[in-house]
Amino acid sequence: MTQSPGQGQALDNLLTESRTFPPSDEFAAQANAKPELYEEAKADREAFWAKQAERLHWDTKWTQVLDWSNAPFAKWFVGGKLNVAYNCVDRHVESGHGDQVAIHWEGEPGDSRAITYGELQREVSKAANALASLGIGAEDRVAIYMPMVPEAIFAMLACARLGAMHSVVFGGFSAEALRTRIEDSSCKLVITTDGQYRRGNPAPLKPAVDEAVAGAPSVEKVLVVKRTNTEVAWTDKDVWWHELVDAQSDQHTPEAFDSEHPLFILYTSGTTGKPKGILHTSGGYLTQASYTHHNVFDLKPDTDVYWCTADIGWVTGHSYIVYGPLSNRVTQVVYEGTPNTPHEGRHWEIVQKYGVSIYYTAPTLIRTFMKWGADIPAKYDLSSLRVLGSVGEPINPEAWIWYRENVGGGKTPIVDTWWQTETGAIMISPLPGVVSTKPGSAQRPLPGIGAKVVNDEGVEVPHGGGGYLVLDEPWPSMLRGIWGDEERYRDTYWSRFAEQGFYFAGDGAKYDDDGDIWLLGRVDDVMNVSGHRISTTEVESALVSHPTVAEAAVVGASDATTGQGIVAFVILRGGAGSDAGGAEAIKALRDHVAKEIGPIAKPRQIMVVPELPKTRSGKIMRRLLRDVAENRAVGDVTTLADSSVMDLISAGLQSGKSED
Ligand code: PRX
Repeated sequence: MTQSPGQGQALDNLLTESRTFPPSDEFAAQANAKPELYEEAKADREAFWAKQAERLHWDTKWTQVLDWSNAPFAKWFVGGKLNVAYNCVDRHVESGHGDQVAIHWEGEPGDSRAITYGELQREVSKAANALASLGIGAEDRVAIYMPMVPEAIFAMLACARLGAMHSVVFGGFSAEALRTRIEDSSCKLVITTDGQYRRGNPAPLKPAVDEAVAGAPSVEKVLVVKRTNTEVAWTDKDVWWHELVDAQSDQHTPEAFDSEHPLFILYTSGTTGKPKGILHTSGGYLTQASYTHHNVFDLKPDTDVYWCTADIGWVTGHSYIVYGPLSNRVTQVVYEGTPNTPHEGRHWEIVQKYGVSIYYTAPTLIRTFMKWGADIPAKYDLSSLRVLGSVGEPINPEAWIWYRENVGGGKTPIVDTWWQTETGAIMISPLPGVVSTKPGSAQRPLPGIGAKVVNDEGVEVPHGGGGYLVLDEPWPSMLRGIWGDEERYRDTYWSRFAEQGFYFAGDGAKYDDDGDIWLLGRVDDVMNVSGHRISTTEVESALVSHPTVAEAAVVGASDATTGQGIVAFVILRGGAGSDAGGAEAIKALRDHVAKEIGPIAKPRQIMVVPELPKTRSGKIMRRLLRDVAENRAVGDVTTLADSSVMDLISAGLQSGKSED
């Protein structure tokens, strides 16, 4: 079987895929989630969620499970009070598990640290005291811009403990991306490190913060963890973590906050250039993060070793490294570095070292492992693994089967989990002890969740039919809005199917003949690169901010490894000079995008073209550009304002000078 080159072909695969893998009897017998869970949720949804909320410690119990009277702004567990950090840390110490390892932290250079729940409680308490001493209190915003070091997790939990909101910004984003996010939510404090290890070498991180903070007047202080010992410039806003935090008392009494108290903002890409600050609150979010982590990954806190390979800069790191797992008293691995440092077996070496039993990663990484070869995982003892997970984009059946055979020993269930930054927690996924899994399908909504595939009119399509994925019931961990932009919240998610009151996820999907759901990728102008959402507009804005570029159009083209690769079409300015389309100039453009947004947004390819295909109303027809980018015959051009444009583009490309 050959590897699918991406979405186009994945669709063909989906159509012919008919293999199913039932759970073994042993697995089913010991599973946390039994078939009755579906029945229970169906019988009384609110009672079901109330029961799940009992997984947590509430200082004050709620009086109402759901208030949807002010839709689309939900309130869950109304009147309840809890402290999220207490639920993730202190209560496990109080129940006698202070000596259990919470985090086996593995640094990229090979250093490691085992952090028990007792130690986690002391570290989080010290950090909370330190933040309070810097004037951080309930509802203040704190930007966290850090690599995967333990202090990043301490910092998130310290914010939660104080009722402050964290806004974690991925450490691979540029200074400019950091600045706009700090500015949008007026962060008072930034927490960062001097540098970060990247592929075996220390790389500076703080200079980006210095640049961002210089243009962000809301920032009062910058708290700096020493990680790489890199020499850094120092300003009067800067404070060393080891000087301030280490000097604090390790006692801190957590305060209970309202169930709807804001917990964090996380920025994600939308169809415009401006990132959306997705707002999540406390009680409902933690309930669903905890419930899904327990049932989808079948976590047994006394015996499992769990590892989610995401970065805390993305929602997966929030819900499935920090909040879900820690609320369930996990023992987990957190790894700082890249999967091929110092060698391509690093992940499997870590699985073997800690006896990892649950492993959760992204299809892009699985496809990378496939490229590196099955002989690499074969060198390690992976027999401890018993559940595998996938998230971030559709997983093509070949990758799914490879994952099961070469990582899962041909026996582990694979849970393909569909969800979004906005949904806060997993929505669609097989339950590993109940559902017979199908390679490439996320299958069915979890108990308590309502999801459907509908047509343009919002009518559910029959089995075998395709359309749009919608969520037709409010859910506990749903976003509570976009920071500072109520209208955009309503427009983006609730206007498409306003009549029906459905949440529009922006994904295409279909049902197979059994009624299982298959995700088919985004239907809007959002690309999915290595499981990360990047908007076409954002990359276009970055390109046109370069002095040589007059106009730009960006599309996501199928990519064998990253799912989609970014392909840009640019029109150069008249005065740009004869070298402006040369290899050097194209490289400069790619670097410019990396500087504006971050290396993750660097176009795979930039093509210089004389014109862009536009409709009569001036909208760029990305569909046609996608055809070009994917080397297909160009589709229907009848709606183009000038139908000869595509010939011009093709002619320009054949001249060969425009590719990177
Ligand atoms: O298109 C879907 C895809 O990722 C989008 C959400 O991206 P983000 O908010 O960055 O969160 C990623 C991690 C939860 C979705 O709209 N997506 C996510 N998981 C899957 C998926 N597509 C297919 N199958 C999945 N399992």
